[in-house]
This record gives sequence, structure tokens and C-alpha cells, in this order.
Amino acid sequence: SDENLPKIFEKKGTPMKRFPNLIIIGVKKGGTRALLEMIKLHPQVCSSGPEIHYFDRYYNKGIEWYRERMPLCYENELIMEKTPSYFVTSGVTEDIFQYSTERLNRTLKLLVIVRDPTRRAISDFTQTQGNEIGVFKRTFEELALKQSIDGEPYVNSQWGAIKIGVYSKHLKRWQRYFKPHEIHVVSGEHLIKQPYDEIKRVEKFLNLPSFIKREHFVYNKTKGFYCFDKQISQPNTNVNETDLRCLGSSKGRAHVFVSTKTETLLRDYFRPFNEELYQLIGRNFGWP
Ligand code: A3P
Repeated sequence: SDENLPKIFEKKGTPMKRFPNLIIIGVKKGGTRALLEMIKLHPQVCSSGPEIHYFDRYYNKGIEWYRERMPLCYENELIMEKTPSYFVTSGVTEDIFQYSTERLNRTLKLLVIVRDPTRRAISDFTQTQGNEIGVFKRTFEELALKQSIDGEPYVNSQWGAIKIGVYSKHLKRWQRYFKPHEIHVVSGEHLIKQPYDEIKRVEKFLNLPSFIKREHFVYNKTKGFYCFDKQISQPNTNVNETDLRCLGSSKGRAHVFVSTKTETLLRDYFRPFNEELYQLIGRNFGWP
């Protein structure tokens, strides 16, 4: 299927299971699957489909177990995996740094995609607390808020879905180990609205030869999101021209209703951390 590709995209070496040198480390509900699918449009990226969870769950299985989980990849490809919990799991930063030093001679690249933390928490709740038919045992408010002695609600900063959204705190830990050319923060909102522009930034960060085109992204009115036209990457395959690849129904679903009052409490809580994040990366995401 790669016969028609320009010479610079030719694959080199023998296909074999190789250690990842590109990891999407987070964040859950930030748009990690969309990011992975978009990067995979590039012919020099080879990716595992499922999340591997080596550094946060299966570390004791050993490094060869990690390699075994990967597909067959060529020598000159970027080898990618994504496990969104890496970003927020204590100890993982140090272990990935050690892996990068010992296995990869510091050629590891990290991506983290973030999104308005209030929206992210609501998305997280919608996914983890609802059953198949959208019935919730508890409300978002019951988990996200606590009551002070005088009955005033305040944000439950101990709830996991809130903790994940304190991006600056997590990022500072990663920045102690990884240099700016090794870690890149992607805008989840931008990836939804202008996927081409956002993914071109990623392509540059990864030092990949420019390949991804505007035509790869086709807006799907029914889904309300962009879908991907793989036909452009693989001109000789028998993909039906009208058969665009969209993400599944669990991506881009309707959220539970949350009152303005609750949203405001969360937004006020996250604001200083958001400002700190903008400072750390030199980019303002303009979250309300
Ligand atoms: P919602 O379902 O809350 O809208 P993850 O893959 O990390 O779980 O992130 C899921 C989120 O990806 C979705 O959250 C959705 O907003 C976002 N997303 C970004 N681009 C998308 C796309 N092209 N199609 C579907 N969802 C997309």
C-alpha cells in the first residue's frame, strides 16, 4: 500500500517488535484516541492500538513484556503507544525517564493532550459513573463538591476527576525530567475544531517529514466531529471512498447537565492552575 509514497517515506530495516520512542501519556478524556489516530495518518508512525499500561500497572512484568505488546515496526518509524494514566500516576515519570535513558539513549518523545479541566471532569464522570443506558447512581455534584460547616459548597479537590485536571502540578513533575524538545502539550479543543493545524504542530515537534494534509480531515455533520480519510495515506488499498474512519460512539458523547453554579465553582478552582500551565508552556488555551 506504500508503493505510491515518495522515497523519503520508504520503510527501512526489518519489521520487528521495537520499544516505543513516542508515548501519549495523557490525559484521560482529553482526546487521546483522536490524537493517536491522527498521528497514525503519517506513514512513518507505527502504533499499538490498545493502551498498554506498562509503567502504571504491569511494570513488574519486565521490559521484554512491554516490547512484546508492540506491533511489528520498521527501523525508521516512530514507535508509538498511548496510556493516558501515565501523566498522573506517581512514580511513572521517574520510571519512564529511566527507560528513556537506558533503552533509548534519550530519544523518547512525550505527548500530552489537555482540555478545559472542568469539561474534562464532566466527561470523565459521564464515562465512569453512568451505566450502559445512561443512569447515574450519584450526581456530578455529589462527587465534585463538599459542604463547609456553614453549608457552603466547595470543590472536592480529593476526587480523582478533579485531581487529573490540575495539569500544571503534573506537568512540573515531567518537566523536571524532560526537556522542552522532549515533551509537547496538545490543545484538546484545537484538535477538535482545527485538527489539521494542531496536528501539524505535532508533526513538527516529532521532526517527521511533512506529510499530513488538510484533506485527511473531513467534517462529519452527524457526528459533529472530524473523521479521517485514510484513503489519502494509502492510495492503493480498497477502502471505500465514502468509508471515512470516525471515532466510536464513546468519543464525543453528550455530557450530563451540570448547573452554572457548580461549573463556576470548578472554573474558579482550576483557574490559577490553568494560568500556571499557560506560563509553563508559553501558550494560552483561553479556558473560561
Ligand atoms: P467527549 O466524549 O467528552 O466529547 P479520550 O480519547 O482521551 O477518551 O478523549 C475523548 C474525547 O476526544 C471526546 O470527549 C471528544 O471531545 C474528543 N475528540 C477529539 N477529537 C475527536 C474526534 N475527531 N472525534 C471524536 N471525539 C473527538
